[in-house]
Parts: sequence; C-alpha cells; structure tokens
Amino acid sequence: MTPLVIAIDGPAGAGKSTIAKALARSMGIGYLDTGAMYRGVTFEVLRRGLEATDVEAVARVAREVVLEQGMDSLRVNGEDATAAIRTPAVDAAVSHVAANSAVREELRERQRKWIAEHGGGVVEGRDIGSVVFPDATLKVYLVASPLVRAKRRVAQHGGNVEEIARAITERDQRDSSRDDSPLRQMPDAVVVDTGDRTIEDVVKHISSLVRATRDSS
Ligand code: DC
Repeated sequence: MTPLVIAIDGPAGAGKSTIAKALARSMGIGYLDTGAMYRGVTFEVLRRGLEATDVEAVARVAREVVLEQGMDSLRVNGEDATAAIRTPAVDAAVSHVAANSAVREELRERQRKWIAEHGGGVVEGRDIGSVVFPDATLKVYLVASPLVRAKRRVAQHGGNVEEIARAITERDQRDSSRDDSPLRQMPDAVVVDTGDRTIEDVVKHISSLVRATRDSS
C-alpha cells in the first residue's frame, strides 16, 4: 500500500509550519519539516566556519551531519539547534545551501526514507509535491501576500515589517529561480490562501480534502 503523504509547499511565511503541524496532530500522523533540514545543514556549515557557497565542502557536511527532528525541535550532531537554525545568519545563508544539488540529493533521500519508516506523514517544504513526492496523496500549495507574511514573522521574532517583507521577497526569488528543484506551484496542487483565514479553518479545509481524496481512490 502506498503511504499517505500530504505535501505542503509554498513560499516562506505562508503558514506552512503552523498548518502542517496542526494537520499532522489532528490526523495523528508524523510531520517532517524539510526546511529545518536545509537549515540544520546550514547551521553546521556556519559552525565549521565554511562558506555557504563552497559547493564541495557544503555537500560533505550534508552527507555527514546527523539531523534528528522532533515535532518542534531539531538536533544537529546531537546538539539542540532549534533556536540556532532560525537566526538571521542562517536565514541569509540557507538559500545558497538549498541551491546545492548534492545537498538536495542527500536530503531528498533522507526525506523519502523518513516517509518509508514512518508509513506516511505531512511533509512541508518547497519541492515536496514537485520532486520529492510527485505521487503524494494530496498536494497543497499555501500562499499569502508578502506583507501578511512579513507581519507574521515580526509577530514571532520582532523586526521591521518593510525590511522583512523585502528579505522574504528576495528569498522567494532565489528559491523560485534556482536550477535544481525550484519553488513552483504544481498544476495538481490545491492552492490555499492563508491570509484571511484562521489556522483551524485551513486545517479543516485540508482535512476534508484528504478525506475526499482517500474516499475517491
Ligand atoms: O521553510 P524554511 O524557511 O525553513 O526553509 C529554509 C530554506 O530552505 C528556504 O530558503 C527554502 C529552502 N528549502 C528548500 O529549498 N526545499 C525544501 N524542501 C525546503 C526548504
């Protein structure tokens, strides 16, 4: 039997983590944050004093690093890096790491292995429905305007809304224009705008889509 995979893709700040986590909890299945994996590699790259643009060295780190993910936590080589992977330094470097094809290949394999071991789950990222799990049970593409996304980020981490909106737009551009597995909306993905909806409303909507998909297969 093919495992149940719910792919949640979309740009930064569209609400992917919040929605994916709440959905996984409500369905009683696992949750994998693939962005945290790219961040974990980036954290280790910076910790070792390497350049995020050093393709060979970064690829080596990706192959070696031990990443252990909990619902709300990430350990990198045994060390709790939950907060450290969300710093501006990691934010600035992570899209270079994510553009590295050898890193993507390694993490893609780990993501597929995770689903096989867990028998399915909710997987959040940028290329989940397009590349990692093109046969996912349900593909959701979450969107929200850059301003809404920047405001959410400021509410969580502080900072200046305009500056953050600019940084978010730049990161989206890098994520969407890279050659390997760019962020893109798949034709078979359901687009959900989280801008003017509550978390509960979006989770309910996606749960009903999962049920409808399961019933019809
Ligand atoms: O979702 P996030 O902001 O934690 O993601 C961090 C970075 O990793 C972001 O620049 C996009 C990249 N990423 C990716 O390229 N592919 C994924 N499946 C997940 C994240």
